[in-house]
Amino acid sequence: MTQGRIHNFGAGPAVLPLSVVEECRAALPNLNGSGFGLLEISHRSQVFQDVVDSAMAGLRRVLGVPDDYTVLFLQGGASLQFYMTALNLLGEGEKADYLLTGGWSKKALAEAQRVGDAQSAWSPDDSGFKRVPKNGEYQIREDAVFVHYTSNNTLYGTQFHHIPESGGKPLILDASSDIAGVPIDISAHDLVYAGAQKNLGPSGVTVVILSPWALSKVGDGIPTMLDYSVHASKGSLFNTPNTFGIFVLDRVFNWLEENGGLEASIARNQAKSELLYNELDRSDFWVPHAERDSRSVMNVTWRLADESLEPVFLAEAENAGLGGLKGHRSVGGIRASMYNGCPIESVEALVSFMRDFESRKS
Ligand SMILES: Cc1ncc(COP(=O)(O)O)c(C=O)c1O
Repeated sequence: MTQGRIHNFGAGPAVLPLSVVEECRAALPNLNGSGFGLLEISHRSQVFQDVVDSAMAGLRRVLGVPDDYTVLFLQGGASLQFYMTALNLLGEGEKADYLLTGGWSKKALAEAQRVGDAQSAWSPDDSGFKRVPKNGEYQIREDAVFVHYTSNNTLYGTQFHHIPESGGKPLILDASSDIAGVPIDISAHDLVYAGAQKNLGPSGVTVVILSPWALSKVGDGIPTMLDYSVHASKGSLFNTPNTFGIFVLDRVFNWLEENGGLEASIARNQAKSELLYNELDRSDFWVPHAERDSRSVMNVTWRLADESLEPVFLAEAENAGLGGLKGHRSVGGIRASMYNGCPIESVEALVSFMRDFESRKS
């Protein structure tokens, strides 16, 4: 049993800033002096409405959300958004194109195909998803109504470092694993969604940001709970939301702002990933998975040249207080997720462990 906190490299739910965890602890018996505990307060109370308003305002400031865009806090995870985006935005007989860059975008496409004519505009030649496409490598259909992409591929450790060309069509973005961790131009997108449990908070709350076009595109006859316009008209309080999740979101945005906002968050994440990629590039002992131009800042994936050493690496790492490093089963090997809540000291500890491991095993 571990008494202290480990260096947590888990892919999500992921490590949060310790100060945010402490704020949760303090609010559990009594939220903001109301006498009601955080888990025991009505979502219709003014005290909780203030939390929602503060979380929305913090999100808008940190991400630079245009004033005429709508922000929603929903449930069902990013996985429900795979279906909701298509259900709301893809009308009868309309088409949508998807950039297939990993397991999550595949799932998004499969859900859209339940609704209408959705197809893949690009997928890599090999099954390893080692890179994202460059502009000009794919064609968007003339009559597509939107293009969907996943900015960061959590499983494979690849990431777009540019906004993909969409042939002038509205862009829909799954930003679940890099929102508020990398530069993002919300105004260049018509819908952005993200499960909170990596960069923004706990599981159970999903951020959805819609342009006026996206909201106006919502069709008729959509089941109430799946209809963006219903949630928008009720300020995300149509039914009981994830009150705890929204509280944590608010505290994470507050933490981001107190620590230099999005720009500083980007710089911290850049520094962490550089430290780790430099180590991986230093020696043939390690074999990075992603192609260089597509490397993710948030999830770094790699194999050991001698793959039989991987279980040993993981077991010894855990003993050394470094947890959550097992790669996703689709890639295998090692994955270090270094979201906003992961301090650089954790990455320094990992790199130092890697050096020691290599010197003992090579
Ligand atoms: C990029 C991406 N999209 C979607 C999902 C699915 O999210 P959820 O579990 O919230 O449905 C994940 C989860 O890891 C993800 O990384």
